[in-house]
Amino acid sequence: MNFNSKIFENNKNISLDNFINKALYDLEYGFYMKKNPIGTDGDFITSPNISILFSEMLAIWCISFWKKLGCPKKVTIVEIGPGDGSLSLGLIKTFCNFKKFDKAYNLKLLEKSEYLIKIQKKKIISNKVKWISRLSEVGKEPIIIIANEFFDSLPVKQYILKNKQWFERYIRLDSSNKLKFNNVKVKLPNFKKVCNFDVAKNQKFIEFSFEAIKFIKKISKILKKNNGGLICFDYGYTKKKMFNSLQSISNHSYSNLLSNPGYQDITHLINFSFFHKLTTKLNLKSETIVTQGEFLKRMGIIERANILSSNKNFKEKSEIFYRLKRLIHPNEMGNLFKVFFFKKKGIKFNLGFI
Ligand SMILES: C[S@@+](CC[C@H](N)C(=O)[O-])C[C@H]1O[C@@H](n2cnc3c(N)ncnc32)[C@H](O)[C@@H]1O
Repeated sequence: MNFNSKIFENNKNISLDNFINKALYDLEYGFYMKKNPIGTDGDFITSPNISILFSEMLAIWCISFWKKLGCPKKVTIVEIGPGDGSLSLGLIKTFCNFKKFDKAYNLKLLEKSEYLIKIQKKKIISNKVKWISRLSEVGKEPIIIIANEFFDSLPVKQYILKNKQWFERYIRLDSSNKLKFNNVKVKLPNFKKVCNFDVAKNQKFIEFSFEAIKFIKKISKILKKNNGGLICFDYGYTKKKMFNSLQSISNHSYSNLLSNPGYQDITHLINFSFFHKLTTKLNLKSETIVTQGEFLKRMGIIERANILSSNKNFKEKSEIFYRLKRLIHPNEMGNLFKVFFFKKKGIKFNLGFI
């Protein structure tokens, strides 16, 4: 048995989100379920793996947010989709330099892949950390949720408008055992019910993750109850018009989306204007979206790199600044990656966003 024979055993035609879900998260064949794809030896690299500076800036941001919340005695930090655990490990290392905060926080990790949970547990040995299997386990304390490259790893649906008729993108296994895209006539979901607004208005193409919406809705309830916010870093765009942004990556290069399911990552760009509208409709306060470069520079990443490199030799210094450049330069991750922050209404905290 292989991926195609298992996934298409009973149905030769499955929706795109169903296909992505299986290709990434099938217990047996899913890309994230059988290896660690993150890092130089993997398929792609993420900011916390590039430099500790990224986690440090985020740690300082969390501590400042906690202060703005009135330094509650207990605060929960949640990382969703922690990958190989590098970001959380960096947070813990930084938090322990801030005694009052170090006493107050507990860290909860929500991860879908058992394989990655094992890697995280090996890497993070700390009595501050707990793994949870659903958001309802976060507790009642004020909460700061972090998601780095999480939303782009959720399955998406695509809808295409042709001659006033909407089609949904499916994947079909043809008679020669090849995967092909296939458009199926459909009635659009009731977006007003799902998102509180008409997503299809002024669109000819829709790319849309039901799972992302579910997450944001659950998080919205938690933030309103507990007090707090969510910060997410993802690659994406701020224009309203949606387009086909699906891509697949294997061994640090783009690959053919249908050629090797289970052995390559499948991602999409986040439409941040959609996220902004959704969270506003959910009665949360969303800050203006900024680029990763802007955010990290406002948090003092250049100054921190200068301090870190001050007593280093030339080779070590170049390494620190080379990695810094990858995080903030507009031609590297600085512009393509955006930072989005939403919180319970009334909290006046926007560090890094203005
Ligand atoms: C692209 S990786 C990002 C890893 C990490 N945040 C980093 O920056 O290195 C996406 C992560 O989200 C996890 N994930 C995907 N769907 C999830 C879900 N529904 N619940 C929890 N984790 C999920 C994946 O298993 C993986 O760890």
